[in-house]
Amino acid sequence: MDTVDENDDIPAHPGRFDGRIAVVTGAASGIGRATAIRLGTEGAAVIAADISDGVHGVVDEIRAAGGRADAVLSDVSQRAGAEAPIDAALEIHGRVDVLCNIAGVLAAAHSDQVPDEQWERIIAINLTGVFYTTRRALPALVESKGSIVMASSTSALSGHPWMTAYSASKGGVLAMTRTLAMEYARRGVRVNAVAPGGITTPMVGGLELPDDVDFSLFDRISPLDEFRGPETVASAICFLAAPEAAHINGEVLRVDGGTLA
Ligand SMILES: NC(=O)c1ccc[n+]([C@@H]2O[C@H](COP(=O)([O-])OP(=O)(O)OC[C@H]3O[C@@H](n4cnc5c(N)ncnc54)[C@H](O)[C@@H]3O)[C@@H](O)[C@H]2O)c1
Repeated sequence: MDTVDENDDIPAHPGRFDGRIAVVTGAASGIGRATAIRLGTEGAAVIAADISDGVHGVVDEIRAAGGRADAVLSDVSQRAGAEAPIDAALEIHGRVDVLCNIAGVLAAAHSDQVPDEQWERIIAINLTGVFYTTRRALPALVESKGSIVMASSTSALSGHPWMTAYSASKGGVLAMTRTLAMEYARRGVRVNAVAPGGITTPMVGGLELPDDVDFSLFDRISPLDEFRGPETVASAICFLAAPEAAHINGEVLRVDGGTLA
């Protein structure tokens, strides 16, 4: 699926992240890709991390546009892999100013039939991986008075049928966001989350629903029946990471076109 939606051509803010070092996980595709490119376009030196080698193309794209970027191939579900992007930022640049925890996976099943491996994989990538990356980054972020943006989901705010493991992981991410925001506020670190609704990315395009679902329940997920592209979320992530959001901390910003308004 093409992840650049021409309808979502949201203006960039050149120079907004000049001199900043930004780490983006899940940078090979969808929202993470759009975020890495936007941060690079706006002046950040980007560490673009992903388990997929598609991340090299993103780095090439940022460099071709005159930006700075390096790729890290790693699996956030393993502690060393989750820490690797932070280690790379510290090795290459000696600091971290922005951490965007975007890597994630989605799978659906009737909740009484969720396979153990689906539960464990989703929690390992979407929740434990976020914790490992964040824990590694926090000392550097305290030093730089930096900020973290998490990819939560509207599934953390309302029921998303057949997505028990995913919703639990995103609810955990939101709880982590609020806890960290309070704990680190006085040390100058801001921690916020975005809660996207349905966004056209490979994650959503590849979603397989279980048999015999009641499709009318989809109204609970996207009553507006309107999916937008990843740029809409990337621009919100960059706003939360940027200096103009200086007094926004522990917030969850829905990017759902008003679905849960
Ligand atoms: N697309 C939506 O509708 C939507 C809605 C709400 C929240 N989100 C969240 O936004 C984030 C990005 O989703 P997306 O829609 O862009 O999906 P995507 O599938 O396009 O991108 C996810 C990226 O994460 C990477 N990834 C997966 N497992 C990994 C691992 N173990 N280690 C490192 N990287 C890994 C993938 O390779 C991929 O590049 C996810 O956390 C997702 O849960 C998406």
